[in-house]
Amino acid sequence: MLDISAYPAAHKVSLAAVPSDADYQRLYRQSIDDPHTFWSEQAQAALNWSRPWKQINAFDSATGHTLWFMGAQLNVSHNCIDRHLDLRGEHTAIIWESDDPEESLRISYRQLHRYVCRLANALKARGIGKGDRVCIYLPMVPEALYAMLACSRIGAVHTVVFNESSAEALRDRLLDADCHTLITADESVAAGKHHPLKLQADQALLECPAVKTVLVVERTGGRIDWVAGRDYWFHEVLRLAPEDCPAEPMNAEDPLFILYTSGSTGKPKGVVHSTGGYLLQTAMTFKTVFDYHEDEVFWCTADIGWITGQSYIVYGPLANGATTLIYEGIPDYPNAERYWQIVDRHQVNILYTAPTILRSLMREGPRFLQESARTSLRILGSVGEPIDPEAWEWYFNAVGLQRCPIIDTWWQTETGAIMLSPSVSSQQLKPGCAMQPFYGVQPVLLDDDGEEIHGPGAGALVIKGSWPSQLRALHGDTEGMTTRYFQPHPGYYFTGDGARRDADGDWWLTGRIDDVITLSSQRLGAAEIESALLLHPNIAEAAVVGYPDPDKGQGIYAFVTPMNGVSADEDLHQELLTLVSTQIGRFARPAWLQFAPALPKTRSGKIMRRLLRKIASNDLGSLGDISTLADPEVVQALIEARLNT
Ligand code: PRX
Repeated sequence: MLDISAYPAAHKVSLAAVPSDADYQRLYRQSIDDPHTFWSEQAQAALNWSRPWKQINAFDSATGHTLWFMGAQLNVSHNCIDRHLDLRGEHTAIIWESDDPEESLRISYRQLHRYVCRLANALKARGIGKGDRVCIYLPMVPEALYAMLACSRIGAVHTVVFNESSAEALRDRLLDADCHTLITADESVAAGKHHPLKLQADQALLECPAVKTVLVVERTGGRIDWVAGRDYWFHEVLRLAPEDCPAEPMNAEDPLFILYTSGSTGKPKGVVHSTGGYLLQTAMTFKTVFDYHEDEVFWCTADIGWITGQSYIVYGPLANGATTLIYEGIPDYPNAERYWQIVDRHQVNILYTAPTILRSLMREGPRFLQESARTSLRILGSVGEPIDPEAWEWYFNAVGLQRCPIIDTWWQTETGAIMLSPSVSSQQLKPGCAMQPFYGVQPVLLDDDGEEIHGPGAGALVIKGSWPSQLRALHGDTEGMTTRYFQPHPGYYFTGDGARRDADGDWWLTGRIDDVITLSSQRLGAAEIESALLLHPNIAEAAVVGYPDPDKGQGIYAFVTPMNGVSADEDLHQELLTLVSTQIGRFARPAWLQFAPALPKTRSGKIMRRLLRKIASNDLGSLGDISTLADPEVVQALIEARLNT
């Protein structure tokens, strides 16, 4: 444990939003013992509702179905924009930092209101309304935020697709969510290079005839193909649309967005989030976990294609009238000083980033920190994977100059908002520890038999009860939420993560215990990559596992069995990597691909992934119990091949 009471005092500024430890304990107890009073008070304080609720929550722990703020109405865009206009209309809502270090932009709440209203009207004029799905496939430009907020203003449901996803991945999401509208850009820009986004979108749209409207943001002016009657320039549409657009009152339980994420099957699942509960928990966690003070600049370095971006670039900050910074580029362009230049230039107070980024910047060496002061920083957040002690120490000592607490937040796409985190006011930081649950969150540890572990111990992390920003469904899969999250351990939500609780009752995350790989703080399903590999006609079987990687957290290792008589050569290797790129995106390409004459299986035919993980990790000392292996020679062959790589 690190006692930071003796360190420089900057983080001990007045912690207006942050409860003392005693207050936290009292409020936490109230959130569990008297949820009605707790959530009534919090929801009234945090958001504007146009109609009050009749009941706070109804939850069925057998199916996971949950309803929050039943009967209530509100509008997300009103809460994120309109209600700030009187007092904060001229304050900056969004700072956009371009890939080009010479270019940035500030958008006030009043300007944001104007853009969002115009776009909302433009969408309405094209027949888009409540419940319709709109796909957003955009780089990190302000228009992405306008698009999300315009959807929420009229009750349309957005689904943001990560802009590095392939045309095929985009197509699958457009089809699954049944979108009739796509908002994209001509090109995206990273490290000074242009990438053909519209071209990818056009390819996807060849198989999506239901998409009738495509709005195109002019980011670079690069040459693109145009389909008359379908494609419209975003800025033209905005220019022509009227500015007055009342926010549509929405039921608290109306869906706000669908976000696709990897799971244990080959097909990404569309996690559905609600309007009221989701906005409440993102707004509350933003304020309390990060101790946000008025006029501070908050920078979350995630992409809006992932939940971290949705919750802590867009909804959490804007619901609090905060200034949210978005950065278009990559951490080391033009060099590894870039993040710290951005911090100084825009006087960032709270930085929320991922361990993989910290590790990559740390490895570049201390000289890249020398030119920046970073004195505006007050709080340093981390998310996406366990933060290793080395990265934690560097973040705390070198980046934050021992002045800023590290807030390691654990949560998931499905939880919608932060679930476990240290308190900013704590003087005792434990490097790598996610510490304590947020209000209303009841984490539980289960042993291998599914029994609750009390006191210190390690096991599977599950959650008892519901919380406002819990996922509501998997899109288009009526039973999906129940079978994937509430059936593995009846009565609990299954996170897929392992965890440890120490003697102080604090929580440590130990990584996924299912077949999800966390690569560079991004989540990828092994099954999704396997499905891509199996599309190759010459491949009989594929198994993908994660292995520890010092930079990326985990790397992707694929074991692939070619069809009989097929030569496992370099051409096939390249074709397989290309297949993964085209099906999912370049970021999902395996770092290692080993041709395997056969895969190790139990006598009942199940692939023994545990063994494959050991081989991929080069952890060959003890293979554990292999008595159920159908053919031990298969393992020996794989080990020999691994040793020869
Ligand atoms: O394994 C956990 C890891 O990221 C998973 C969730 O991924 P995703 O839905 O993409 O959301 C990422 C950002 C919220 C979790 O199941 N994870 C996330 N945060 C942490 C973490 N693992 C350890 N410590 C964290 N702080």
